[in-house]
Amino acid sequence: MLPESYKDERNITYPAFKWLRENNPLGVAELPGFDPIVLVTRFDDLLNIERQPEIFANLPANPILNDQASDAFIRSLTGGSIRSIDVTPFMDPPEHTTIRRLINPWFRPSNVKRFEEQVRALARREVDRLFSLGEEVDFARDFGLLYPLRVIMTLFGLPPEDEPTIMKLTQEFFGTNDPEEQREEIQMTPDAAGRAWAAAIASFNEYFHQHTVDRRARPTEDLLSIVANSRIDGELIGESYCNGQYIAISTAGHDTTSATLNGAMLAFIEHPAQLALVRNDPELVEQTVEECIRYVSPVKHFMRCASRDVEVSGRQFRAGDRFMLNFPSANRDESKFGPNSHDFDITVPRGKHAGFGFGPHQCQGMMIARLELRILFEELLPRVRTIELAGTPKYTQTNFVGGLKSLPVRLTPA
Ligand code: HEM
Repeated sequence: MLPESYKDERNITYPAFKWLRENNPLGVAELPGFDPIVLVTRFDDLLNIERQPEIFANLPANPILNDQASDAFIRSLTGGSIRSIDVTPFMDPPEHTTIRRLINPWFRPSNVKRFEEQVRALARREVDRLFSLGEEVDFARDFGLLYPLRVIMTLFGLPPEDEPTIMKLTQEFFGTNDPEEQREEIQMTPDAAGRAWAAAIASFNEYFHQHTVDRRARPTEDLLSIVANSRIDGELIGESYCNGQYIAISTAGHDTTSATLNGAMLAFIEHPAQLALVRNDPELVEQTVEECIRYVSPVKHFMRCASRDVEVSGRQFRAGDRFMLNFPSANRDESKFGPNSHDFDITVPRGKHAGFGFGPHQCQGMMIARLELRILFEELLPRVRTIELAGTPKYTQTNFVGGLKSLPVRLTPA
């Protein structure tokens, strides 16, 4: 449940989830400084909860787990609401449906397909750059963090010279519990995570303001312009809704894919036979992408709040109870994926996984994520002869979105 446990997911988080799935799959965690939290660890329970948004809502409690002091800090800024940002995970129907619909057509497979060549050109350039760095690189820092950022900035229509700004903002946004990512002045306060979150949002809002003004004055074809010029009942949407969409796309579209890519590389290092298989058989690439997302599960949780008394798998819960949807646990559930659920195996069709979530909040950008990862694997993997660890991998301390932040490797080209 705590961000610290994800620093060592193999020895802490995954064994704990396995124990919970077997012994107490809807156990209630009572930790000082936190609300009691129902830990949803089985695939079927998670699916069942996500598909009933009228009972398991995203609000009024925080859809992202934080300590009580941090939540109180956010409420002090907003006059009582936990909604610090007008973004879809902080909405329920009907508002959620209306806002999500505004940019849904852009995310449809038929539209996403249009970007194939653009993303491939970028992937090729990035792979060339990777091999020009020499044999020893930090795959996560030198490559995994950059390629998804460049893709999302290109699709968004953000100028390349803003890359350091966007990089800093997205790292702060998802690293709010990692002391190495936090702003120094707020590290020591009990509500540090809440303060870091608010500061990251304020910086994003400030950054995007001029882009909204510009795109409204001179509309273009890019996603930024589509968001800025979205209308409800003929009226332009408020700037806070634009900011919410920008922040969702730039953050959700960056670290999720980065973490998947970095985790995939570590998986290939540890399973060289799997790398050989996919390198020699392009038909396996799509399945490889799905297995990487299942195995890495870069989104660690979202929260739901019961809007009435309810029974789940034979256990009674009360209105107001808070449920933590543990996507990585659902993705290793033996009752869904069999006794080998902890293995990385691209040859087994696993069926539906929980990596993108389910129901009305299911990842809006999943077709982009799939395209980006598939093209990268197609461009990178055939060019890798060997890849091995050249140091100790390091994970971000987060229970929200993240994965490897450092992956020193020795890479020889084919
Ligand atoms: C491998 C990469 C990715 C993974 C594993 C992932 C996973 C997820 C998950 C688990 C959720 C929450 C679902 C729920 O509450 O049920 C989510 C929501 C979301 N994702 Fe992704 N995501 C990825 C990439 C992306 C990309 C590339 C974008 C945008 C370009 C994106 C945009 C969003 C948005 C906007 C939401 C909020 C949806 C809503 O609340 O209605 N994601 N994602």
